[in-house]
Amino acid sequence: MFDLPNPLRRHFIAAAAAVAVAPLAPRAWSAAAVRPFTLQAGTAPVALVGDPHPPTEAWCFDGKVPGPELRARQGERLRVVVTNRLAEGTTVHWHGLRLPNAMDGVPGLTQAPIAPAGGTFVYEFDLPDAGTYWYHPHSRSFEQVARGLAGVLIVDEPERYRADRDITWALQDWRLTRDAQIAGGFGNMMDRTHAGRIGNTVTVNGVVAESFDVRAGERIRLRLANLAVARIFGLEFQGHRPQVIAYDGQPVAPHEPQGGLLVLGPGERIDVVVDMTGAPGERFAVVDRFYRQNAYELLALAYGKEKPLRARFDAATALPPNPTPEIDLARAARHEIVFAGGMGPGMMGGGGSMGRGPMGGGMRGGGMTGMAWTINGVAVTEDGHAHDPLLTLERGRTVVLAMANDTNWHHPIHLHGHFFRVLTRDGRATRQREWRDTALLAPGEKAEVAFVADNPGDWMFHCHILDHQAAGMMATFRVA
Ligand code: C2O
Ligand code: CU
Repeated sequence: MFDLPNPLRRHFIAAAAAVAVAPLAPRAWSAAAVRPFTLQAGTAPVALVGDPHPPTEAWCFDGKVPGPELRARQGERLRVVVTNRLAEGTTVHWHGLRLPNAMDGVPGLTQAPIAPAGGTFVYEFDLPDAGTYWYHPHSRSFEQVARGLAGVLIVDEPERYRADRDITWALQDWRLTRDAQIAGGFGNMMDRTHAGRIGNTVTVNGVVAESFDVRAGERIRLRLANLAVARIFGLEFQGHRPQVIAYDGQPVAPHEPQGGLLVLGPGERIDVVVDMTGAPGERFAVVDRFYRQNAYELLALAYGKEKPLRARFDAATALPPNPTPEIDLARAARHEIVFAGGMGPGMMGGGGSMGRGPMGGGMRGGGMTGMAWTINGVAVTEDGHAHDPLLTLERGRTVVLAMANDTNWHHPIHLHGHFFRVLTRDGRATRQREWRDTALLAPGEKAEVAFVADNPGDWMFHCHILDHQAAGMMATFRVA
């Protein structure tokens, strides 16, 4: 089994690896309806940690980690030709997008795997919603994503949001050996039954970053995306007050997060506005303090010497809403969803009592066969294998999912093909009634979410800690 070293191990850090910044060039309105891309899944050496460590042999898109940032405009049609150069089958899932079921990238459910050694598949679909999304395989994803196959997809609003820069931080977490290679042991029982494959090296845009250069007085729209397979982030921007403008790509009234902490479970995104209120030459830490015993500095905001761009900031503006169908709670169908299983007390999750919810309760063949988790008593493993839908939802009707996390662990619960509103947490109305595609449930937490089941097809509903997903925490909803 692995011990989990503290990610604070700065011996992995390359000297002042700067994070790539991409200033937004003003873009002419394009008449072209289709935005074409190609992606190649393959293996490549990548300089995650830098000298004196050798490059890391990763599995990745177009030879990069994260994969290329795909960018299109709301209302356009995306076309991505994917070629598989891996030695095993794969697919690409477009996380958070409302798209036709056949484009959802789930092997065995929505398509056959793309054949190894040169197979191709063309994904093509409209982009009704702006926002920050991402893409990753849905095929043995606990290993394929952990080896590096993941990238960010941005759908721009028709009007550019008012900020000086539009920046993405793609967060990834790696379990590396001493010589900076990806450690084996994928899908081991320890990871499956506990917090998942948490790593020992965190990268921002593919590098162990020391600092991020900013200018006093500038306003940055920062898109945070958690592409990790298991690590939850809780980011504190010391000396700054980031305002959330979107969760999982979906606009929300600008607000400061509770306790100043930006919490992102695996799969989740948060768009924030960060006003650089520090002075030229100052330096502020961005600290990840989600796991309290293991807080570490993700990187530092490093102010340049230039004089401030402005002295005072206007209030952050809200993003324009996406055309998401509004829920109708008066006519909603209500379903209870209970998550159970896992081993022992939550190492990081508080709680502390042994096994909330019996390990074997109602599980089909549980225990040592590798099924560790259940949804409503059923463990489904292996996406790619047909199984009966957990729920059949009437097309066009509002659905309320009353979810209960009856375990000692956190679970980021993700639904494909729809966004849901988070209505309550532990019985209390949420402040923002935010739209999301993933809801992070704390140990023992309950949450009610609602959405209009308007997208026909079979859709996955699963934990985005990918070892949990592979170990049973997965189901499908049929919208018919
Ligand atoms: Cu991000 Cu089912 O996936
Ligand atoms: Cu989980």
